[in-house]
Amino acid sequence: MNISFGTISSCRAKRHFPAAVLCVAILAGCSLLRAQENILSVSALHAQLPPSPQYTGPGSCASATCHGSVSPRNENRVLQNEYSTWIVKDKHSKAYAALTGATGERMAAILGLKKAEAAPKCLACHALDVPASERARTFDLSEGVSCENCHGPAAAWLGPHTERDWTHQKSLALGMYDTRDLTKRTEKCLSCHLGNEEKSVDHEMIAAGHPDLYFELDSFSAVMPRHWKEPGEPGEEPGADPWYDVHELSTGQAVQLQQSLLRLASRAKGKVWPEYSELQCYSCHHSLTTPEDSWRQARGYPGRRPGDPPWNPSRYTIFHELVAQADSDQTAKLDAELSQLAHLMSQLNPDRDAVASAATNSARLVGDLSARIGSTPNDSGSTLHLLQKISGDADTVSGQGEHAAAQAAMAIQSLFVAYDRNQKMQNSEQLRAAISGLFRELQNPSSYDPARFAARMRQVNALVR
Ligand code: HEC
Ligand code: HEC
Ligand code: HEC
Ligand code: HEC
Repeated sequence: MNISFGTISSCRAKRHFPAAVLCVAILAGCSLLRAQENILSVSALHAQLPPSPQYTGPGSCASATCHGSVSPRNENRVLQNEYSTWIVKDKHSKAYAALTGATGERMAAILGLKKAEAAPKCLACHALDVPASERARTFDLSEGVSCENCHGPAAAWLGPHTERDWTHQKSLALGMYDTRDLTKRTEKCLSCHLGNEEKSVDHEMIAAGHPDLYFELDSFSAVMPRHWKEPGEPGEEPGADPWYDVHELSTGQAVQLQQSLLRLASRAKGKVWPEYSELQCYSCHHSLTTPEDSWRQARGYPGRRPGDPPWNPSRYTIFHELVAQADSDQTAKLDAELSQLAHLMSQLNPDRDAVASAATNSARLVGDLSARIGSTPNDSGSTLHLLQKISGDADTVSGQGEHAAAQAAMAIQSLFVAYDRNQKMQNSEQLRAAISGLFRELQNPSSYDPARFAARMRQVNALVR
């Protein structure tokens, strides 16, 4: 948690895209990688796929004339400095090193693993750990989370994708992963930033030293930082959606709610139950006060037996607002389903079957609703309304715990950045300061105080009238 909010808030406020350096177009100069000249139809390409995916490692993309340019180029839509951005600025290139550091090694010792950097349980999210039979050439696990972790196995499209008339569709047919599709993009990020049935960070790993996992697509993409141009960014093609960031935020929220419900359903059927990382961390991990100073006792324990740890509902906090805006009829239904789930999960020993079936059903409803939210266009009015709505729900949001507060802070920041870029707010400096105030409240999560966070939200709300 320590890295997090300071980094996200400061990077986000400062984000900018450097001007591309003028230089001669030589994408075609990647002739080293050129395989065949003939342009095939998309369906014919499928037939060419090797029986198992073939990975080539990040070195194959690193040439200065391909994706290893030192500075961004401006002769086509691809920046061509993706490799340089990844190796210098992106923590993914250091993901393997995290396993060999002091915390990683101690975690391994606590968990009874020989070496973290040799444990499939860790490599699954910290490297391109594919079987030997899927390696088209030699590469090193120590290169961390690299291009093909996100873009898919490259051997089949590596050569052809540098051809002049090549299309994205053709790369997809040859096994490239569709990171342009926001739903698929979020699912890919969450496979590691939330985990799933195959790879997971649970409370046992957290207790051994792993950071808690949380995510918000737009903020995390900015912090990465992005090595691509986005519709709506200054300098992008005319006609692009200037509200793309808002779309990114809402898809990200929908997918993370859905995936977290599916993860909960699978954990409810798993070995360890209750799984503490599904609950509100700081209901257990806070320091005690005298009764007079306890906001928890002042609040009481609505809907649960005093002292039972509550479910962490943070992945619903913002989605609730999005549904209310896009399809208010469905809000009541979704609210009812999720309060039932919260009720089940906020008991000492939640009923596994009931939780699994409630979570599975709600994941389905969220899937239906997210399709509707995805097709609702965003504009300045809807973006401002969302900013007002989220910051206006100060008491509810802050009462849902520190993680919910963190989601609200990131969402408010993303919406503000998008709104200010398009509408040039008069009081943007004041608003920026007020939003930093939200992040400051989250710096020491064990002493999170909902009343203080709510007061900060009201300051933000007063500035978005
Ligand atoms: C489900 C995917 C997943 C698995 C499995 C996983 N990690 Fe991680 N790990 C992450 C992510 C994502 C982060 C970054 C979290 C963030 O900053 O939001 C991370 C961060 C870390 C960090 C902190 C790195 C830093 O720069 O501060 C350490 C140390 C670490 N992991 C060690 C391990 C070890 C050891 C294992 C195996 C026991 C392991 N991880 C398994 C996803 C995973
Ligand atoms: C953590 C995930 C991740 C990693 C690692 C990653 N990328 Fe990306 N990349 C993305 C996402 C998300 C996009 C934006 C969606 C898109 O344009 O496909 C993107 C976009 C791109 C684009 C622009 C594509 C386009 O058509 O606009 C290029 C080129 C690219 N990446 C190359 C690379 C290279 C080369 C590496 C390794 C050095 C790399 N990426 C590593 C996630 C990743
Ligand atoms: C294969 C697993 C994997 C995938 C896929 C993945 N990540 Fe990560 N990510 C990690 C790990 C592991 C770390 C921690 C690296 C470290 O700190 O050493 C990390 C770190 C990060 C960080 C730095 C967080 C911090 O605390 O500074 C950001 C931001 C991030 N990822 C964003 C994304 C986004 C956005 C996507 C999807 C486009 C994505 N990641 C996809 C595994 C993954
Ligand atoms: C139901 C109560 C409960 C919940 C909820 C819970 N934990 Fe724990 N946690 C514990 C207990 C008990 C220990 C073991 C403490 C000990 O041995 O002293 C522990 C240990 C830890 C430790 C290692 C001890 C330390 O002080 O460094 C960390 C870190 C931790 N938890 C983080 C979290 C995070 C993050 C979450 C939420 C994702 C969470 N916990 C949710 C009860 C809980």
